[in-house]
Amino acid sequence: MKTLKASPPAIVEAARIIRDGGLIAMPTETVYGLAADASNAMAVARIFEAKGRPSFNPLIVHVGDIQMARRLAVFTDDSEKLAMAFWPGPLTLVLRRREDAGVSDLVTAGLPTIAIRLPAHPTTAKLLHAANTPIAAPSANRSGHVSPTTADHVAADLAGQIDMILDAGACPVGIESTVVDCSQISDGNEDKEDAAPTLLRPGGISAEQIGRVLGRPPRKAAGDNDTAPTSPGQLASHYAPNARMRLNVKRPEPGEALLAFGPKVPAHCGLMINLSPSGDLKEAAANLFASLRALDSEGCTSIAVVTIPGEGLGEAINDRLLRAAAPRP
Ligand code: TXA
Ligand code: MG
Repeated sequence: MKTLKASPPAIVEAARIIRDGGLIAMPTETVYGLAADASNAMAVARIFEAKGRPSFNPLIVHVGDIQMARRLAVFTDDSEKLAMAFWPGPLTLVLRRREDAGVSDLVTAGLPTIAIRLPAHPTTAKLLHAANTPIAAPSANRSGHVSPTTADHVAADLAGQIDMILDAGACPVGIESTVVDCSQISDGNEDKEDAAPTLLRPGGISAEQIGRVLGRPPRKAAGDNDTAPTSPGQLASHYAPNARMRLNVKRPEPGEALLAFGPKVPAHCGLMINLSPSGDLKEAAANLFASLRALDSEGCTSIAVVTIPGEGLGEAINDRLLRAAAPRP
């Protein structure tokens, strides 16, 4: 892994790595991000692997301009105001994701929403333009560690796990972006308060600043955003396919669809998707949500899932499978 000082050739190289499905640490005004092409599921899976994340939290998608943001998500009046006031800058908007957004399901953790940010740092802006693709990036630290605001912090946590660190010195803001959920679209019949933007994570832009632009204070999320959108109850219904799920299956029942992993596939006749015929957990993670959707769209009523090893990304895969198999609300 190399660390390159931000310069035009270094930015071109970083953009090439991203387009080729690699991982880089990119400077932003808030914290260094662990950056990958948001449209490439395998590249996004590498983010979770490098961070050692126990679960697939939804990631922020960074865009180079507002046109790119509009291709990914539906803006409401409130989000439009917030974008005009604070973009580029340390504000992340959670919006309804467009069907044709072209972003990996792993980025949004299967949610119908997408978190988008237009960063202000000049190096990030140049990188986004050179890469010309939305970039998924959580903070570039091992899961559970303090967020990195210098290239050295990144190297201490992630050396050997990423292809390059683009070093633009210390991050000027130093704390993560403010996350505001504007995904509730008022249909005009409901109480306007129901559709009020919700502050999910305090950050670089204060609640007061947000409130001034909205003309009313944002609602406060109950609890911590890092747990709220991934709380089991909420997410179970998001991850769950329509089909019933049976885990750790050795002998699928007749008529059941099979979600397999690795070269040893149980005897079975009928619909089958192998998450990774070679037994590669990264590939399996990249394929997981798309495979569940595909089996669902085939109309199967029960999905038998083989045992997936629990190490590395397997822990996250099993976490999601458990939620998907949990009793439905
Ligand atoms: O400043 C930042 O935001 C940094 C830099 C790199 O841009 N990124 C960052 O990403 O902090 P991360 O992954 O550490 O935090 C993402 C936050 C989490 O709190 C996550 O739950 C929330 O955004 N989030 C992402 N997508 C969401 C969604 N669809 N709905 C609700 N919350 C979402
Ligand atoms: Mg973080």
